[in-house]
Amino acid sequence: MNIRLLPETTVNRIAAGEVVERPASAIKELVENAIDAGARHVDVVLAGGGIQYIGVTDDGMGMARPDLELCVERHATSKLPDDDLLNVAFLGFRGEALPSIGAVSRLTIASRAQGSAEAWQIGVDGGKRLPVKPAALNQGTKVEIRDLFYATPARLKFLKGERTELNHALEMMRRLAMANPEVGFTLTHDGRVLLRVPPAPGDLFDARLLARLAALLGNDFADNTIRIDAERRNFRLTGFAGVPTYNRGNGQQQYLFVNGRAVRDKLFVGAVRGAYMDYLARDRHPVLALFLEADPEDVDVNVHPAKAEVRFKDSGIVRGLIVGALRNALAAAGHQASTTVGAAALGAIRREAPPPFRPSEAFAEFNRPLQGFAETAQAGFSYADTPSARVETAPSMPVMQPAEAQAEARHPLGAARGQLHETYIISQTEDGIVIVDQHAAHERLVYERMKRALTDTGVARQMLLLPEVIELDPVAASNLADRAHELAELGLALEPFGAGAVVVREVPALLGDCDIRGLVRDLADDLAELDEALSLKERLEDVCSTMACHGSVRAGRRLTVAEMNALMREMEVTPHSGQCNHGRPTYVELKLKDIERLFGRR
Ligand SMILES: Nc1ncnc2c1ncn2[C@@H]1O[C@H](COP(=O)(O)OP(=O)(O)OP(=O)(O)O)[C@@H](O)[C@H]1O
Ligand SMILES: [Mg+2]
Repeated sequence: MNIRLLPETTVNRIAAGEVVERPASAIKELVENAIDAGARHVDVVLAGGGIQYIGVTDDGMGMARPDLELCVERHATSKLPDDDLLNVAFLGFRGEALPSIGAVSRLTIASRAQGSAEAWQIGVDGGKRLPVKPAALNQGTKVEIRDLFYATPARLKFLKGERTELNHALEMMRRLAMANPEVGFTLTHDGRVLLRVPPAPGDLFDARLLARLAALLGNDFADNTIRIDAERRNFRLTGFAGVPTYNRGNGQQQYLFVNGRAVRDKLFVGAVRGAYMDYLARDRHPVLALFLEADPEDVDVNVHPAKAEVRFKDSGIVRGLIVGALRNALAAAGHQASTTVGAAALGAIRREAPPPFRPSEAFAEFNRPLQGFAETAQAGFSYADTPSARVETAPSMPVMQPAEAQAEARHPLGAARGQLHETYIISQTEDGIVIVDQHAAHERLVYERMKRALTDTGVARQMLLLPEVIELDPVAASNLADRAHELAELGLALEPFGAGAVVVREVPALLGDCDIRGLVRDLADDLAELDEALSLKERLEDVCSTMACHGSVRAGRRLTVAEMNALMREMEVTPHSGQCNHGRPTYVELKLKDIERLFGRR
């Protein structure tokens, strides 16, 4: 075997695989170059999800002819004047992006340097340089990529459909727009404007950022957010974090920027989860945009060719800073954040070892209610009057005849005896006690009913007296609109309503009164995650469980005994009713002998 040096085109194609993975990453490289060139406005135009065409026009300082000829050469960069890899003030400095893209596509770059009267254009076609020629252009640069990966068919095959690639591109644009509030951006796809944000005004970064976040995430977010500003050693964390009640069905809207660069980082995801753990259920996710400033010495941004990952010298400090800053801010936000006590917290308690048993304390605690009991018993004790453990005696409760109750008790889930904390149904079976989580149980039942209705009769719909207009981002709205036909089969009738909104006219009847806004937003989140090749029916579980969750008897609603028994009777005949759609149990059962053991009677 002979060793040979690879030709430059091959080297560039290999590098391209690392730098550009898909249209979104090419867009990132071009937009970052535009920002490095001091642009105030960056316009991105796409066709065919960016696979066919990407055009990025900026009004930055441009390139004179000699620079233009150099910029497509490998390792040609203007951004590393003194070869100090740790002192980088620009978004790029590897001098790889343009030659790599040129190796795998048809690339043209037209540019007119600041103060120059003429514009020039250069091209690279599958790695082959084309001659320089005059061009017509205002100040700035216009880079165009046609047929990305046409020169590397194997890589082309790895791309997803146009819509998926477009979603990635839009997500990338949001990140870039978030990190650079003073720059205006537009994104146009096949002639439709999907994103337009003007340069955000204001002298302070915070003010500009908040304006930009409102433009990108909605005014809702800006209204439900806490400002973060914390420091630890050489690190500073700023930005905005959503209050826990403003949460989403997935973690997509959690943005971290390290020295102005959007990064995806496990450390960040874990820190956020930890900070919100006490406030949010495990399957809900907060929305936030945080900016970490670090001394270039403490963070290596060069570990990843696409610069999407970073490495910290001391990740413990960074994690501590993020968790601490968020926890403090959430605690200070007080009641704003205090509505949800997470299932996550409960899980955490269970996972921890039980606290050491301290007899004296435990007994002091235990004695108190006993002392109180004597007094209440004299005054005519009844459960319903004890404020601490309120048992809801629904109006029909006392009417239940013993014989009836006995008949009910023969069912596997027993006869309802009461409702605790407006959330749990307590029921008596022949040989034990059952505790039902009414929300979880109902959710499962709605889901199963919906599945059945779909195969039998079609889902009955209920017309809304007032159609609801729901604002979303343009891609989410168009994702929903594209699936309108399928959603209608599931009982949800909606139509596009201008760019970035849908109007809902009918909802599945079996959802009853539901939170339509929340439902549609969560569905849009689902659709963004679902594979476009699958029909909604194939992903029925995901969609239905989202619907069911919004249409279910919320924890906190008072039920009559008849309603409680009806719920349990339906659970008994419904498959899979022992767990909710998120895999949590819908009821727990304690057999009498377990209870006896608990009290040392056995
Ligand atoms: N939009 C632009 N306006 C002005 N100059 C540009 C523009 N795009 C690229 N350049 C010039 O071309 C050079 C090469 O760009 P390229 O993206 O290949 O490398 P880089 O930005 O230096 O580093 P990296 O590979 O890390 O992105 C840049 O250093 C810059 O001087
Ligand atoms: Mg670059």
